[in-house]
Amino acid sequence: MSNYNPFTLEGKTILVTGASSGIGQTTAIECSKMGAKLVITGRNAERLQETFNQLEGEGHRQIIAELTDGEDVNRLVSECSELNGLVLCAGKGKTLPLSFCSKEKFDDVFSVNFNAPVELLRLLLKAKKITKCGSVVFVASIAGMQGRTSPANAMYGASKAALVATMRYFAREYSTKLIRFNSVNPSMVNTPLIQHGAITEEQRKIDMANYPLGRYGEPLDIAHGIIYLLSDASSWVTGHSLVIDGGVTI
Ligand SMILES: NC(=O)c1ccc[n+]([C@@H]2O[C@H](COP(=O)([O-])OP(=O)(O)OC[C@H]3O[C@@H](n4cnc5c(N)ncnc54)[C@H](OP(=O)(O)O)[C@@H]3O)[C@@H](O)[C@H]2O)c1
Repeated sequence: MSNYNPFTLEGKTILVTGASSGIGQTTAIECSKMGAKLVITGRNAERLQETFNQLEGEGHRQIIAELTDGEDVNRLVSECSELNGLVLCAGKGKTLPLSFCSKEKFDDVFSVNFNAPVELLRLLLKAKKITKCGSVVFVASIAGMQGRTSPANAMYGASKAALVATMRYFAREYSTKLIRFNSVNPSMVNTPLIQHGAITEEQRKIDMANYPLGRYGEPLDIAHGIIYLLSDASSWVTGHSLVIDGGVTI
């Protein structure tokens, strides 16, 4: 049997934020199965260890960090080796009608979903930790593209739209170094982020009926898109948002 695999991550070192849960956890595990060495980060030590235990192969590292804390972020950057790939997955959900929003709540969502990933990226680039031909993947959301399928999600959607806008600028800015910047934009994915959300089981069933492919996503659906963007199979793809949404935005 041939070993041909254009999506391999052999020889790549990849940092995944939000690796202690949901999409980030599955992405880290899948990347290791594709041959990558992982640096995984999250806040919850126990769950990060669970991810670490499921990584295949040798040479992985785990680093606990609160990504809104400057000292933690500096430590994470200094402890990172050279990276061929970066998955900025850590984030938080927030569903609130406008009348319940406030500047503090906006700041809270933006500090985790926008400021933290952009600052980590900035410091990694400044420290020259991302190699030539590296690949950066932002985990955004369809909530940043439209409001039809995600009502009362304005703050969250705005934070993800901001992420995608910066991603496009960085794609141009770093094109001379052949560093690529892309995003994945998922719709609803079964993770703790939505399981602890405000919708009831009945509302979930009604919502799921809007999905042409008949179901919410699983973390694996998103991880596979991320692997494509990290791999050399996508080496001519930059500044792109890959919508992975079961067809709900068609
Ligand atoms: N699930 C969905 O339907 C969906 C849809 C579209 C986009 N997304 C995006 O996908 C990404 C992952 O979400 P998920 O569904 O996998 O959620 P999740 O299971 O709740 O995981 C969130 C991850 O982010 C980490 N995190 C949150 N705040 C952090 C902070 N201040 N510093 C460091 N780490 C922090 C968490 O770390 P600890 O657990 O260790 O605290 C956890 O690892 C998010 O950016 C989310 O917006 C999710």
